[in-house]
Parts: sequence; structure tokens; C-alpha cells
Amino acid sequence: MTNAIEHVVIIGGTSGIGLAAAKRLAGEGMKVTIAGRDRDRLAAASAALAGKADARALDASDAAQVREFFGTLGAFDHLVLALGSSRGTGAFATLDLTDVRRGFEEKVWPHLSCAQAALPTIRKDGSITFISAVSAEMAAPGTAGIAAANGALAIVTPILAAELRPLRVNAVSPGVVDTPWWDFLAADRRQAAFAAYAGMSPVGRVGTPDDIAKAIAFLIADSFVTGHVLTCDGGLRLAA
Ligand SMILES: NC(=O)c1ccc[n+]([C@@H]2O[C@H](COP(=O)([O-])OP(=O)(O)OC[C@H]3O[C@@H](n4cnc5c(N)ncnc54)[C@H](OP(=O)(O)O)[C@@H]3O)[C@@H](O)[C@H]2O)c1
Repeated sequence: MTNAIEHVVIIGGTSGIGLAAAKRLAGEGMKVTIAGRDRDRLAAASAALAGKADARALDASDAAQVREFFGTLGAFDHLVLALGSSRGTGAFATLDLTDVRRGFEEKVWPHLSCAQAALPTIRKDGSITFISAVSAEMAAPGTAGIAAANGALAIVTPILAAELRPLRVNAVSPGVVDTPWWDFLAADRRQAAFAAYAGMSPVGRVGTPDDIAKAIAFLIADSFVTGHVLTCDGGLRLAA
């Protein structure tokens, strides 16, 4: 039975796409719990959400913390996995495979361990939304490592939708989105990269976090959509 007010849990909800999803879903009247590692970011996100979300510290790469988090959370309806990693880019011939492995450890394992730990308490016909990335669809040189991690999540999405029914399992595959994920680049290089991606994209711009939040909200709301990877990239994949 559906609760009157649905409860969504967003792991990686203190920044970028996850925070935008928290704002949008709280604005739609949902109960929202956000989680992330950094306590200052948690406090800032709470302030940005003006008390409309619970904020809890969690390092989702730590299996014991993940078990404790979901073991004490209580029943909820929807899970959004918005944490990630920027590791694993570079030309394959010289690619540091240790970095690729860390990219998997920072994104793929936390997504899967949170999804698994959520199963006892998530609503049986609720939803899980993974965040993959368009790198998994683009065949862009220099992205084999990061695309492998994002592709792993895209591949498991329809399998889990078939296996965990009636729980719905979907993913959003964002293109380039202006978030702190890009902070590994100095400001001038980031702006140059965004300008180049905007020029390649049919829509002529990079994404905003709320562009992706809208796609997440759609996948949560439409109970007839499952096993779907929703590309939300301004058409960037078409430029490859
Ligand atoms: N931005 C883009 O262009 C883009 C494109 C395609 C896909 N994506 C994907 O979209 C997702 C969201 O990225 P974003 O751009 O919103 O990045 P972001 O602004 O850096 O936000 C990442 C969020 O994840 C949290 N996080 C990271 N590691 C965590 C962990 N081990 N445990 C708990 N929380 C963790 C961060 O908080 P703490 O660091 O405080 O833990 C933060 O709240 C990622 O999976 C990313 O790969 C982004």
C-alpha cells in the first residue's frame, strides 16, 4: 500500500544532481532523506533545503555504514543513487588501471551495496534510480575506464527490474552537467570544456542539475516505467 506522503532517500544528495533532485522532490511534497560523507556539505544542503529534508552522514563505500544506515532508516518508498566518481578517464594505452578500479569502488560498488541493503525496507513496488552516464553510450576516445563503470550500472538496471519486480529499477544517463563533479578541472579549463561540450550538443548548452532532477522525478513518478535507462544529455551522444 502506498504511503500518503512518499519517502525518498537520496545517497549523494548533498551536491549537484542529488541535491537538485532533493529540492525538486521536496517541492513536490515528498519526505526526503539525503546522505553524503562530508558534514559541512550535509549542513549546507540542509540549509539549502530549508528544513524540508533529513540529512544523515554516510560513506556508501563502507559496507558496515551502509548496513547500519538502512538498518536504522525504517520503511521508505524510493531510493536514488546519485553518488559517483570522476576516476578512470584517459587514453587507454596509458590508462592507470588502478584508477579505473578506484572508480568502480567509488561508484559501482556503493550503488550496488546500497541497492542491496535497501531491499528489506524499501516499498515492494517502490523504485530504485541509479545515475549512470552518457560516457557508457558514446564510444568517446579516452573514456573507456569511466564508461566501463557507468556501463556496468546501465547493464544491471533492466536485469534488476526483471529480478526484483514489482520494485521498479531505472537509471538516468546524464550528459555533461555543471556540478562540483567537474572541480577536478581548474575554473578556466572547466569553462573551456563546457563551451566545447555545448558546441557539440544539439541543444547548444551543458546541463543543469535540475535538468537531471526532472528525469529522476519522472522515473520515480511513472509507475509504468521500469528497466529503463533514460538518457538526459542534450543530445551530446549524437556528436560522437
Ligand atoms: N556532472 C556531470 O557532468 C555528470 C555526468 C554524467 C554522470 N554524472 C554522475 O551523476 C552522479 C552525481 O554527480 P554530480 O555531478 O551531482 O556530482 P557532485 O556534485 O560531486 O555530487 C556527488 C554527491 O555524492 C556524494 N558522495 C560521493 N561519494 C560518496 C560516498 N562514498 N558516500 C556517500 N556520498 C557520496 C557527495 O557528497 P560527499 O562528497 O560529501 O560524500 C555529493 O553529495 C555521479 O554518479 C556522477 O558520476 C555526472
